[in-house]
Amino acid sequence: MRFDVITLFPELIEPYLSVGVVRRAFTGAVQVRLWPLRDFADGHYRRVDDRPFGGGPGMVMLAEPLYRCWQAIRLDRGLPACRPPGAAVDVPTVLFSPAGERLSHDVVARYAQPAAPGAILLCGRYEGVDQRFVDACVDAQISLGDFVLSGGEIAAVALLDAVARLQPGVLGDQASAEQDSFNPVVDGLLDCPHYTRPEVWQGPAGPMTVPPVLLSGHHAQIEAWRRAQRVQATARWRPDVLARARAEGRLRPADEQ
Ligand code: ADE
Repeated sequence: MRFDVITLFPELIEPYLSVGVVRRAFTGAVQVRLWPLRDFADGHYRRVDDRPFGGGPGMVMLAEPLYRCWQAIRLDRGLPACRPPGAAVDVPTVLFSPAGERLSHDVVARYAQPAAPGAILLCGRYEGVDQRFVDACVDAQISLGDFVLSGGEIAAVALLDAVARLQPGVLGDQASAEQDSFNPVVDGLLDCPHYTRPEVWQGPAGPMTVPPVLLSGHHAQIEAWRRAQRVQATARWRPDVLARARAEGRLRPADEQ
């Protein structure tokens, strides 16, 4: 799959693509190309924004450089420069904005499907993007949450990272992504606590031990303990997530004891 990222600040995104376990994905299954928007702007100053009609604070991203960049990406992907009106979405264009659908495991999983085409990701800046470009070219909007960032780059990196870690072979152990919080394999619950050596750690209030079951070598008991811990953590930190799991029939009888 391929992601094309339209951004004014490629240097914000670039470092994340070459570090850590996800680096493997970005040199393999998940191609990422960065498109500096200023390269598609006119004039000596390569202007990419202007004042809003109607007045008010801040600047608005110009439709024309965005459109030129978007068309260049489509051509580079071997697609027609424009999608004919009413045609099915060939590659989705996604705008990162506080107005978007909240990023979640389900959204990430959709973009991470091996047969999915990826997307054209638009990192908004300033007060926003000229609505005419949004109306003409944007298929979906994604938000990181109910707060405002200075731009969509952090959100784009969040999506790319989350998509990359779901690719087979990217994490050392394939089971690892499946045991993550929110994965359907763990019924969408939060992750359980983890412990490593030493068995006794000298904490600020004295020695702290590891739950004995984890040292027992008894696989079924360890799994049962981890499941109970997942349920407990979800009840404590995300009761909304637990309520949804219950309503959708994802809890087991033992989870309710
Ligand atoms: N751009 C500005 N705020 C944002 C948010 N909350 N999520 C995604 N992109 C944004």
